[in-house]
Amino acid sequence: MKVMTYRELESKDELLPLLDHAFGWTFNQRSFDKFAKIDPRLMNSPIGFCVVESGHVVGYVGVMDLATLTSNGDVEYVGGIYGVATLPSHVRKGISTTLINEAHRYFRDQGYRFSLLGTSHTIVAHSLYQKLGYTDLFERPSAYKIMTQNKTKTTIKGKSQKLDLDRILVIYKEHVKGKTGLVVRDKTYLELLEKTEGLTARDCVINDAGYVLFRVQKIGAWVNGIWIREFVASDSKEMNKLLDLVEERAKDMIYDRTVLDRSLLQVYRSCNYMIHERSHSVLMVKPLTSDASFKQVYSNRFFMTGLDFF
Ligand SMILES: CC(C)(COP(=O)(O)OP(=O)(O)OC[C@H]1O[C@@H](n2cnc3c(N)ncnc32)[C@H](O)[C@@H]1OP(=O)(O)O)[C@@H](O)C(=O)NCCC(=O)NCCS
Repeated sequence: MKVMTYRELESKDELLPLLDHAFGWTFNQRSFDKFAKIDPRLMNSPIGFCVVESGHVVGYVGVMDLATLTSNGDVEYVGGIYGVATLPSHVRKGISTTLINEAHRYFRDQGYRFSLLGTSHTIVAHSLYQKLGYTDLFERPSAYKIMTQNKTKTTIKGKSQKLDLDRILVIYKEHVKGKTGLVVRDKTYLELLEKTEGLTARDCVINDAGYVLFRVQKIGAWVNGIWIREFVASDSKEMNKLLDLVEERAKDMIYDRTVLDRSLLQVYRSCNYMIHERSHSVLMVKPLTSDASFKQVYSNRFFMTGLDFF
């Protein structure tokens, strides 16, 4: 099986059907490469590994370098796997297995002790990952509310303003003090999220003690809801205040699909959100060395938000 890195591929055109078949990801090389150059998770990595058969790309596995904070307070990189896809005509020939093992080789060469990936319990890939040594780390508790009364107060007109990234970063850093995991951020990373997530000041409520970043989703006549992407606040009182402000912007519904902060989940519960502790979606981990223990390195304080899922 001929394996090449994304960077070595002469033409990336065939990734469009491959990734669209797998995820509905209409891969656009020009915009992807533009972001990959400034994304700290991709800028120094091979980006991905591909199997090429008779000159055609038939399988892909993406790789990222993820900065984490350990319980010792050290910044330690781990491997991140994304975009695992094999063409429907080429499945069950060991292509993904070969590519994921190639990714592991890359991670080990970098000295990484863990590999992480996000998937769903309900798809065949979950058993593929288990076979390769991954175990479930955590699911994603969620909260949903249908807006029965129209609280909408705020209509924002005019040009969208820039997000106050400096302020957001200060509040975020305060919030993640004492936490481990995917909590290493700088302004460049926030600028990247701003671009890739299309966030503007209109998609944010902020006060001195916290902020909520969200996306207003309107799909034809169907959804007019607010999808909360990151909710950060110092305590339950501030969370309630911010949630009130978000509700004032919501027309039909609000949903937060990743509530890893227990006190936030409690706030949603007290505000009559429908809470689900379990999810199909799951983060999985594999130790890359025989002595690596995820629990020892991160204790039980591993944290990330919906914006960090890859
Ligand atoms: C999941 C997917 C990536 C597997 O790719 P692949 O190249 O066929 O994987 P492999 O041939 O290396 O399979 C390895 C093992 O995974 C499991 N597996 C793979 N496909 C399976 C299927 N359709 N049913 C049951 N088990 C399956 C089997 O244990 C298999 O070993 P076996 O063939 O010896 O029984 C491919 O089906 C795909 O692209 N699916 C759509 C996209 C997707 O779901 N990606 C993962 C997102 S997290």
